[in-house]
Amino acid sequence: MPHYRLAFLGFGNVGRALARLLERKRVSMKVHYDVSVSVTGIATRRHGYAVDPGGLDVQKALGLWELGESIAPLSIFDVKDSLAVLHHSGADVLFETSPVNYDSGQPAIDHCRTALQIGMHVITANKGAVVHGYRELAALAATKGKRFLFEATVLGGTPVFSVFREGLPAATLTAFRGVINSTTNIILSQMEAGKTFDEAVKYCQGIGVAETDPSNDVDGWDAAVKVAALVTVLMDTPFTPHQVRRTGIRGITPAMIQEARAQGRRWKLIASAQKTGEAVHATVEPQMVDKESRFYALQGGSSGLEFSTDVLGELAIIESDREGLPPGPEPTAYALLADFLNAVRR
Ligand SMILES: NC(=O)c1ccc[n+]([C@@H]2O[C@H](COP(=O)([O-])OP(=O)(O)OC[C@H]3O[C@@H](n4cnc5c(N)ncnc54)[C@H](OP(=O)(O)O)[C@@H]3O)[C@@H](O)[C@H]2O)c1
Repeated sequence: MPHYRLAFLGFGNVGRALARLLERKRVSMKVHYDVSVSVTGIATRRHGYAVDPGGLDVQKALGLWELGESIAPLSIFDVKDSLAVLHHSGADVLFETSPVNYDSGQPAIDHCRTALQIGMHVITANKGAVVHGYRELAALAATKGKRFLFEATVLGGTPVFSVFREGLPAATLTAFRGVINSTTNIILSQMEAGKTFDEAVKYCQGIGVAETDPSNDVDGWDAAVKVAALVTVLMDTPFTPHQVRRTGIRGITPAMIQEARAQGRRWKLIASAQKTGEAVHATVEPQMVDKESRFYALQGGSSGLEFSTDVLGELAIIESDREGLPPGPEPTAYALLADFLNAVRR
């Protein structure tokens, strides 16, 4: 049975959710895909680095992280940075889940490039690496006979890139439109339920979906970087978040929300792009949608995209909130696992 050694650069919400998911799916991966795994390297920013090509004790690493302690005592090498973890881990696959850098994609691009050069598959949840490094990293992966996959970057665990890659070969994507930032969608849903903007932001911070500084979500940057990733990859046009015409949701008042409700409509932060010839026009902005729109019913952490292509009628991909479960990193971790199995089972 093929055995894969895995390196984690980033062991935050997503990295740790993936570590738990790999454990939960261990038997299923063995039975259905004939694959076994061990984690041989972990890098963090404040919780240290750990490497053991023979396999780290992941439960212990999770325990140390939860206690706020360093994972370094688990390491058999004295490693001091993320690239050293890659070099010493002997890993076959890198899971890159360091924080996103909207402006340059670094240091994630360096992480991905180094891993590909060493001969690893690279699987990332990091949108910056896709927006700023896609062409270089995809070409390097092809040269090395490895995969550079990033399904986790847009719509959490829901397949988007692989739908086009595997299911729609030779189709040309001409436009897309959708709700792709769950935090703002939860804020708008909470405001509909009577909360002020500040109370809704606090609610999101309380359930762990908004950061202490919520600007990246509420000002539309997260949606813009996702639009840039979709345009770059699926429309084959290099595009940055700065090229997206962007308006966040700070200007939406409770009165505007109530007025929309009175008209049977809702405010949504809508992301969209259209390609005409070689030109791409992309926006992120609050729009009122009515009941006829498929986005009207997307409440809370739900998200969705509709696509126009040259070969099909309108195609929509919707991910609804997991019933009874608060939003969390688990669907994103699942996207990383799915990319991993797709990379190694070919
Ligand atoms: N959370 C989600 O649901 C979600 C969904 C889609 C995509 N993403 C993307 O997934 C990535 C991870 O998100 P997250 O929520 O897991 O973030 P997070 O909780 O902040 O975790 C980031 C991790 O990266 C580590 N780190 C920081 N700088 C590093 C570096 N230079 N080298 C190696 N590790 C480094 C951090 O170390 P410490 O542990 O010491 O802080 C932490 O372990 C981000 O790019 C995010 O945009 C997240």
